[in-house]
Amino acid sequence: MTVPADSNGLPSIQEELILVLDFGGQTAQLIARRVRDQNVFCQLVRHDLPIERIRELKPKGLILSGGPASVYEKNAPHVDARLFDLGIPILGICYGLQLACQTLGGRVTPGSKREFGRTQCQIVAADPFLTGLPASMTVWMSHGDQIEDTAGMFTSLMSTSTCAFAAVKHRSQAIYGLQFHPEVTHTEHGGQLLANFVKEVCGCHGTWKISSLIDREVASIRARVGANRVICGLSGGVDSSVVAAILYKAIGSQLSCIFVDNGLLRKGESDKVRDRFENHFKTDLHVVDAKKQFLDELAGVTDPQQKRKIIGRVFIDVFRKEAESIQDAKFLAQGTLYPDVIESGANIDGPAATIKAHHNVGGLPEQLGFELIEPLRDLFKDEVRRMGLELGLTEELVWRHPFPGPGLGVRCLGELSDVRLTKLREADAIVLEELRSAGLYRLIQQAFAVLLPVQSVGVMGDGRTYEEVIAVRAVATDDFMTADWYPMPHDVLQRISTRIINEVRGVNRVVYDISSKPPSTIEWE
Ligand code: XMP
Repeated sequence: MTVPADSNGLPSIQEELILVLDFGGQTAQLIARRVRDQNVFCQLVRHDLPIERIRELKPKGLILSGGPASVYEKNAPHVDARLFDLGIPILGICYGLQLACQTLGGRVTPGSKREFGRTQCQIVAADPFLTGLPASMTVWMSHGDQIEDTAGMFTSLMSTSTCAFAAVKHRSQAIYGLQFHPEVTHTEHGGQLLANFVKEVCGCHGTWKISSLIDREVASIRARVGANRVICGLSGGVDSSVVAAILYKAIGSQLSCIFVDNGLLRKGESDKVRDRFENHFKTDLHVVDAKKQFLDELAGVTDPQQKRKIIGRVFIDVFRKEAESIQDAKFLAQGTLYPDVIESGANIDGPAATIKAHHNVGGLPEQLGFELIEPLRDLFKDEVRRMGLELGLTEELVWRHPFPGPGLGVRCLGELSDVRLTKLREADAIVLEELRSAGLYRLIQQAFAVLLPVQSVGVMGDGRTYEEVIAVRAVATDDFMTADWYPMPHDVLQRISTRIINEVRGVNRVVYDISSKPPSTIEWE
């Protein structure tokens, strides 16, 4: 097992390590993740991490991230000039490059012809850093400043029609720079550039595995928690399950899990959680049956935001009561991921727009006086999935489509009742079963049934029916911010429709949602 180097969660010095010095760019964490994709451990650190500490950590390479400032502005974040004498390979990205250049005596100016967004870039000199790249490629620029003069320090490796120094290399040291962002998907071969820096320039072998990350988290949780008890709220989803599994590995019987059954769950959800966290991981699992309380409070409510508010409030009440009944708990664990940190606007430079109040337990730790444990805070979803598999969670859980906190509450349009929720639950289970058996579940990022608050006329046998309608929604998306409706094969639609109408009492019509996001959202409410 690896030993964590310090309480900041910085890595052990046995691992190959790349540090990203954070100058406030929105994609700084993404750089770290792209490096980890190369099986090299990489972590984002403050841009002013003392040079002594950097030396101790023995990184194989340093990356200076982008950032919103201009290097010539007063109060722009700077870098210790001694960094460039450490003999550690350095890659400056955008602001990081401009800073490196300025620190070494060059000049940066507000580029006369600003380049933003996609632009074409040509290779002008050969270098190991450019291994495997085509002569010309599309790259993503997002800064107005450019290098005007490198004081003879750097030579150009790539250029665009308006930027002579799109990629540069120091004349005598392993210091590289990119004016564009290799970490974003709009830059073609960006991953290759980062891989080249890490492997060709820094000489990393790529032996790091997600299991090292688990080991580090386990060690740091043990050190922090000591003999105390930790509460983990389970939602049935992958993030909270991975958190619980890590905690169980770290502290075993000191972990108590709370799962609130709000009556708005999908078919079989509660049993699955029991099976996983009582039988497989033998945690102290508290399943709170709060179905009646939720449905009572939601009676007669049809407004979506009102539903969300009530569900959130009741959840906090129920969770709080259960948590208070658990003796000696000092910590509350949450499955916050890095994209959630951005979405909630918690990082200073991230896009501040908060999308929806997604997190049910938001505000709870403070109210209850808990200290927060967030082992996934630096990670992206696919890394969490890899961790989940490594921890022994099933493929089915790890690849589960996202399910909103308010659950079927926002998919059962109109008034909520036991009868209507049962209809929806049955129809939803059929949709998912059919997608799985057609091998489509993993190709679709989110799919579900929605019960509409309208009735339509039908005929069944000799009789006329007047029953409710199920809409089927299935979307393909990269990030859930935009989404396309999934072009579902007709035979699958046919099986779903036939089964729902035959098997779900009270439904006589099935429709398929062919709206993209935007303008429609993924959920109907
Ligand atoms: P929309 O409907 O905004 O959904 O296109 C984008 C993603 O967010 C999920 N979603 C929620 N998740 N609480 C949640 O935890 C919510 O209130 C909520 N509303 C939407 C939705 O399922 C989709 O994955």
